[in-house]
Amino acid sequence: MQIDPSATPVPEVYQYLVGVVTPRPIAWVTTLSPDGLVNLAPFSFFNAFGANPPVVVFSPTLRRDGTKKDTLLNLERLGEFVVHAAVAPLAEVVNLTSKEVAAEVSEVDLAGLTTVPSVKVRPPRVKDAPVAMECVVRQIVSCGTGPIAANLVIGEVVMLHVADEVLDGKGGVDPRKLRTVARLGGAFWCHTSDLFELKRP
Ligand SMILES: Cc1cc2nc3c(=O)[nH]c(=O)nc-3n(C[C@H](O)[C@H](O)[C@H](O)COP(=O)(O)O)c2cc1C
Repeated sequence: MQIDPSATPVPEVYQYLVGVVTPRPIAWVTTLSPDGLVNLAPFSFFNAFGANPPVVVFSPTLRRDGTKKDTLLNLERLGEFVVHAAVAPLAEVVNLTSKEVAAEVSEVDLAGLTTVPSVKVRPPRVKDAPVAMECVVRQIVSCGTGPIAANLVIGEVVMLHVADEVLDGKGGVDPRKLRTVARLGGAFWCHTSDLFELKRP
């Protein structure tokens, strides 16, 4: 089978893309609205791209009606956000915060979560998340204008919070303790429990 995106409806292209680019880590992102409301939503078009300075990128795409999601609108106004790792004990809550709710409703309240102030940015972080990265927007790169078009939010990590409980004691994070979850196509998610090690050649 071959798929030419230029001759295929966008929702179908989307389904194939998220089905083959797997698993995708999930950025669980807090932003602040102009009236100070905390917005929280998951984004699996996400990864880290360098360490000097530490850079992460995620993409709040345009909605299927072509409008901008609240996260993107907030970032265009106040270029600061916090990315939390999505972990197994919080998977259902992370999913719950993907609900499309009115801009005046905070997903933090919806999910019964508590936030604590960040150190270097104005959006707060989720208290129970074992990893939180405070970020400042470097650039937002839009690719396309219609439904599900990408908006690459390039953020510099200015403060990293890692809970002591997930450390490996050797200067890193123990994946067996952090237990991130990731997204595949459709409604599939996966755990990171099926681990194996390969030494670099
Ligand atoms: C696990 C998961 C991953 C998601 N990844 C993305 C993504 O990468 N980009 C996107 O635009 N929406 C993604 N969504 C949907 C958004 O979370 C959803 O549209 C949310 O309501 C956006 O919130 P906002 O309007 O408050 O910004 C994802 C949903 C889930 C459950």
